[in-house]
Amino acid sequence: MTRYTFTRGLSYAPIVAASERVAWTVDGVFQDRRFDASRPIVPPSWVGTAGLRFLNEADQLVLNHCRAFSYVHLLRNFEEFVPPHLTGSATDAWHDDRARLRTLFRFGEEEMKHQQLFERAERVLEESCGHGFRRFFDDGGARVTEMTQNLLGHSPLGRFLIILALEWGTQRHYVESVHGAAVTDGLYADLLKAHWVEEAQHTKVDALEIAALAETMSAEELTAAFDDLLAIGALVDAKFAEQAKREVETLVGVRGRDLPDDESAKLVRALHASLSANMAGVGLGHPRFALVARELSAEGAAKLGIA
Ligand SMILES: [Fe+2]
Ligand SMILES: [Fe+2]
Repeated sequence: MTRYTFTRGLSYAPIVAASERVAWTVDGVFQDRRFDASRPIVPPSWVGTAGLRFLNEADQLVLNHCRAFSYVHLLRNFEEFVPPHLTGSATDAWHDDRARLRTLFRFGEEEMKHQQLFERAERVLEESCGHGFRRFFDDGGARVTEMTQNLLGHSPLGRFLIILALEWGTQRHYVESVHGAAVTDGLYADLLKAHWVEEAQHTKVDALEIAALAETMSAEELTAAFDDLLAIGALVDAKFAEQAKREVETLVGVRGRDLPDDESAKLVRALHASLSANMAGVGLGHPRFALVARELSAEGAAKLGIA
């Protein structure tokens, strides 16, 4: 038991059991299916370009497919740092509670599986759409290696907080895909669902690990962890900005038309804003994340705009 209410009712053994019950395989999710590229694949709200009058319907469709790609491409690469981050937590207390260690390793293994799911989705999107997508993270892995090292240089609590936010965000993405069933591709919706059912267990592990770390920290240290979270957020947001530029490059290549500089800049800004809002904003603004933030440090939470 911890003094934090956000851990109420949580313990490691039931998390392992739930994780075993909901587990899936990448092949089982895909079942040799493809995405339907004749229609939007993700909700248009994810793209946020409906108000840009210089884009026609065909442009909007390509941008929608770009966003479906960017989402899996970015998540695949962001999740790379999670297994080494969790391994660090496990080795801090080796010979600890068996259920805790199993949970941490299982959580890490699931993230490795998610990377495979997203990598497959990137490939199948390219096959289904009949063209490639420009990507920020290069095939050689230099950029993801650099980002992973940067992320691992931040405090364990800051890292757990960004993971928790991103994971609560995946719940929103799944729920939106169900409510917006008419605009979300069936395979894509299944992929979001598969991801969330495992992330739902991870949010519980995060809560327990966050509480254990927080109990060893002073009020000042807890507040400082939110500065660290903001620094991690800025690091991640810079990747969103880069990928937004790649989306415009893909659009120009696929549609075979040049955009005037002012329209191109406006489009990059809109795409960057929607990537940030949809991938980080929904998690950092999620009520369940706010609950944890507030209880850890009201002063720290206020830095995120959480009252
Ligand atoms: Fe994941
Ligand atoms: Fe996760």
